[in-house]
Amino acid sequence: MQNLKKFIGSFSFDGRLIESDITGSIAHTKMLVKTGIIGASDGKKIIFGLMSILKDLSKEWKIPEEEDIHYAIEKELIRRIGIVGCKMHTARSRNDQVATDLRIYLKQEINKIKNLLTTFQKIIVEKASKNIDVIMPGFTHLQPAQPILAAHHLLAYAWMMQRDKERLDDCYKRTDILPLGSAALSGTSFKVDRSYVAKILNFKNISENSLDAVSDRDFAVEFVFCVSLIALHLTRLCEEIILWMNPEFDYVTIDDKFTSGSSMMPQKRNPDCAEVIRGKSGRIFGDLIAMLTILKSLPLAYNRDLQEDKPPVFDALDNIKLCIEVISEMIDSLKFLKEKTLRSTKKGFIAATELADYLANNDIPFRVAHKLIKDIVLYCKKKSKMLNELSMEEYNKFSPIFKKDIFEYLDIKNIVNTKTSYGATSKKAVMRQIKNIKRKLK
Ligand code: ARG
Repeated sequence: MQNLKKFIGSFSFDGRLIESDITGSIAHTKMLVKTGIIGASDGKKIIFGLMSILKDLSKEWKIPEEEDIHYAIEKELIRRIGIVGCKMHTARSRNDQVATDLRIYLKQEINKIKNLLTTFQKIIVEKASKNIDVIMPGFTHLQPAQPILAAHHLLAYAWMMQRDKERLDDCYKRTDILPLGSAALSGTSFKVDRSYVAKILNFKNISENSLDAVSDRDFAVEFVFCVSLIALHLTRLCEEIILWMNPEFDYVTIDDKFTSGSSMMPQKRNPDCAEVIRGKSGRIFGDLIAMLTILKSLPLAYNRDLQEDKPPVFDALDNIKLCIEVISEMIDSLKFLKEKTLRSTKKGFIAATELADYLANNDIPFRVAHKLIKDIVLYCKKKSKMLNELSMEEYNKFSPIFKKDIFEYLDIKNIVNTKTSYGATSKKAVMRQIKNIKRKLK
């Protein structure tokens, strides 16, 4: 049954661990020599053989198929250097080996994703700075609420990405633990030097419990969770781009290359890239559920179920990298339609809160003021007028407290710039925000 061998194996999806595996094996071999478990000349041959495989990888050469990438490398090594290659696997099992490989690999990938996020954040900050004077409606419940700076809105995503990076840092800490030396499950009777291996492989810590070490995939689950949350954040931005591009909003344009037309409706430009990113979150969340389910109820220690961890981990990381790259370029090409966003602030009575604050500043209890302004808004709706189109007489019919200066309160730009509390949307506060995030991105 040739197919069963394939079924049991993982060669079709673990090939990308080849470099991590060879790096791990070289470190392991060095340790075997240092501790005298194998002779120096044997060690030299093994390392030479592993290096030659590594070198051939940069050429067209492909390693012959075996049950998994770990076996494939060992077999190729023995083919190249002979029986001495059989000594490499002393004091080691594929169980601690594969756990080590995945950790080596993910540590690199975590750093790559963090770099992509930093690039994306820089693009957001740049876009925010360049559009510092663009005013748009802010929404709650997707209903016009209060005017804000578009820069403020964009920067919200830079802070999300900042937390995402911090979460990855945290995940890195728990990935940065070396399982090698745990062997199959119980450790080894060989006098290995695990700290030495950790030093060569640049692991901060070594695992404390061999059973835990070979069966722990928490770091991988955590990684896919971190990726899922990044994906989730991206979907929120994509959703907004999709809305903002809709003619009903008409707030922004993005480069045409991120959209596509319809095969039937000639007028259409569809926000496909934003939609694909939104859609990809589905498969990434699926990867997270897969990881949790693979581990659920699994008795200690290693079980072959664990090899199914790789497809979801790789799928999540491949897709998030693509998504971050695409959204970065897309946001880089984003243009705000300044007049349109400003015009939109005229709808929805988004200055109403200012009028309530105006009264509250003149000693009217806020709840009373709130009710009064609600009546004014109803009056405006009836008369098809905007708040700044009412006359002084009309205002005074509602309250004698209103003075001419209310019209300044109704000025959209003024409204934005009165929001000076720390973290608020005034130009000054947003400039400070930009300074703060730039400091983080250095
Ligand atoms: N290919 C397996 C994995 O990816 C490693 C093999 C461990 N096999 C074993 N029989 N202990 O997890």
